[in-house]
Amino acid sequence: RPRVLSGIQPTADSFTLGNYLGAVRNWVAMQDDYDAFYMVVDLHAITVEQDPATLRRRTRVAAAQLLAAGLDPQRCALFVQSHVPEHAQLGWVMSCLTGFGEASRMTQFKDKSAKQGSGAASVGLFTYPILQVADILLYQANYVPVGEDQRQHLELSRDLAQRFNGRYGKTFTVPEPYIVKDTAKIMDLQDPGAKMSKSAESPAGLIELLADPKVNAKKIRSAVTDTEREIRFDEVSKPGVSNLLRIYAALGERSIADLEQEYVGKGYGDLKKDLAELVTETFTPFKERTEQFLADEGKLDAILAEGGEKARAVAAKTLAEVYERIGFVPR
Ligand code: TYM
Repeated sequence: RPRVLSGIQPTADSFTLGNYLGAVRNWVAMQDDYDAFYMVVDLHAITVEQDPATLRRRTRVAAAQLLAAGLDPQRCALFVQSHVPEHAQLGWVMSCLTGFGEASRMTQFKDKSAKQGSGAASVGLFTYPILQVADILLYQANYVPVGEDQRQHLELSRDLAQRFNGRYGKTFTVPEPYIVKDTAKIMDLQDPGAKMSKSAESPAGLIELLADPKVNAKKIRSAVTDTEREIRFDEVSKPGVSNLLRIYAALGERSIADLEQEYVGKGYGDLKKDLAELVTETFTPFKERTEQFLADEGKLDAILAEGGEKARAVAAKTLAEVYERIGFVPR
């Protein structure tokens, strides 16, 4: 079976609707047909300062949300990145294969470091994409299900896999991004020109899956639209309405064309009201399931320990082969 690997950062108290539609939902769908590895990337989280107790809590909250979304530890390996030391080890090897200029071209670093002010960003934030390359290549992943914002990091993974293979002989599978176009970039409800993000300046356009359902319903009812009246998908002139249609289509498992038909002659208020109900129906039980998984911390940690063992078996094998190819004397 082809293999998939993906990761999510434990840097917020809740996943966003963007995380869910762009990534997590696809992870759940893929666990039956692929040999699947999914992780909470705590090593990546510390590229910016984290409070220790908060990081520990958020790592478990992230894992609980992944289980609540439908990941099944019998059908995938669900683990925490720091439980598998090979990630950091292969990360070093990959950093020695990456050009300084090549790393400097990563746009996500440029955006994130600009926010922190000049010189304040850590070296870890700079090498972040190289660790991500190691994450992917360790598992010989064929596909990496992510949102659009990860595309450049996936290209780096492909480049470094090919570079290593060219230099030392075929060792790594060259991974392909698995990006579902319709949900690859969910936009902020108040600023539909920008990606919905957990680090958004204002929370007004952000749907957090674990927030009070009433708060989320209100945010949807207050979403920015336009001064026309027609419910029509047109991302250039109607980005707000188009974003709502995308979300509705994805959660309701319907086509956008079908929704456009249904709302002929109806107003934006009708669309928002119905979508708010759909979001409430979908995520109220999700929130409850997440709380149940969090209530039994012993069981949650046991699931992660088991996932970590499965992951380590694969990762250790790849790293041993890499060390051998590079010319390290065996231990
Ligand atoms: P992170 O934690 O920022 O986001 C997790 C996933 O959610 C997707 N995403 C979105 N998709 C659509 N619309 C949005 N508005 C939206 N916001 C977020 C992201 O694309 C991502 O797939 N670098 C990664 C974590 C990572 C990783 C990996 C991913 C570390 N190692 C190895 C894949 C493979 C990140 O920061 O994701």
